[in-house]
Amino acid sequence: MSKSDITNKEDIKTFVNAFYKSMTSEDLVGHVFLDVMQVDWDHHLPKMYDFWEMLLLDGHSYKGTPMQPHLIVNQIVPLTKAHFEHWITLFTQTIDTLFEGPKAEEAKTKAFNIAQTWAYKFDYMNKLDK
Ligand code: HEM
Repeated sequence: MSKSDITNKEDIKTFVNAFYKSMTSEDLVGHVFLDVMQVDWDHHLPKMYDFWEMLLLDGHSYKGTPMQPHLIVNQIVPLTKAHFEHWITLFTQTIDTLFEGPKAEEAKTKAFNIAQTWAYKFDYMNKLDK
């Protein structure tokens, strides 16, 4: 069956929910969310819906500082290139399972670009700390 593209906020909720459901305690990134940070999903998920709505559909609801919570995470578990690569693998798989089209491609490209930039930043910061 052919898949449709991401067109509205419901689609965003669908892939954000599926992305976090795909994490398990056994995987590198899931371990950080589920065991280390014990993330409150009722708080985190709506922020992520708004964040992705801003990136893909020009939404204006997201009010936050995307990098900031990761600085806190990084003090507890140093975030490595491997974490970001695994994050991107899970994210790409989630999008490819559910959607197809220009917006789906844009979601993967934007996620990849952010993850790569952050991976370099954290690698650099964590090396300076040594
Ligand atoms: C190494 C991989 C990553 C880990 C372990 C991670 C972990 C986290 C954690 C623990 C939070 C705080 C959740 C909460 O308590 O509310 C968070 C927030 C967030 N993350 Fe990540 N993250 C990763 C990669 C990414 C990437 C690549 C993006 C963007 C494409 C991203 C976007 C965000 C945003 C937008 C927030 C909410 C920021 C706010 O408070 O406004 N994360 N992340």
